[in-house]
Amino acid sequence: MERDQDTTAVMVREVLDSTLETVAHIEAVAVEIARRVGFRGVSLDHISLATHETITNAVVHGNRYRTEKKVFVAISITQDRFKITIADEGDGFDPMTLPDPLAPERLSEGSGRGVYLSRASMDEYHVRSRDAGGAEVTLVKYLCAQVTNPSARKS
Ligand SMILES: Nc1ncnc2c1ncn2[C@@H]1O[C@H](COP(=O)(O)OP(=O)(O)OP(=O)(O)O)[C@@H](O)[C@H]1O
Ligand SMILES: [Mg+2]
Repeated sequence: MERDQDTTAVMVREVLDSTLETVAHIEAVAVEIARRVGFRGVSLDHISLATHETITNAVVHGNRYRTEKKVFVAISITQDRFKITIADEGDGFDPMTLPDPLAPERLSEGSGRGVYLSRASMDEYHVRSRDAGGAEVTLVKYLCAQVTNPSARKS
């Protein structure tokens, strides 16, 4: 762990293999850090869920389990927020073009909900394309959960 100058209290940076062990490891690290800085209950469950879904997507859809491709994770805590960034070396994706998992014809499908659940669980959800190729997803949860209209901040 490092210390950063701009009020960042905790920072983790890891480069990981594209495996399901990576998924379990990062989910555990994220929950441990979030718990340590005061997240509890449903907020902690939301961080766990969104981290699990997003890193699974990086391993499965992004890097497709390819051994030569890595997953890049950064976790930081500032005074008011938990932030995790998960990047991969795949083809990238645009969350705005995904089908709506709540559409009647899709409700019975067994998959296609990870992005939706991640967005719904966090206060901020951003996707951008990495310069080197691949997707970079940033998830943010506010320590002070008093945001009444978080969707305004999602992109
Ligand atoms: N990191 C990524 N790189 C490339 N494509 C991605 C990435 N993350 C998501 N996607 C695309 O977005 C789609 C939707 O992802 P989402 O997690 O919502 O559903 P899913 O992974 O197909 O099913 P599940 O409900 O099991 O998560 C994926 O099928 C994939 O096409
Ligand atoms: Mg998924």
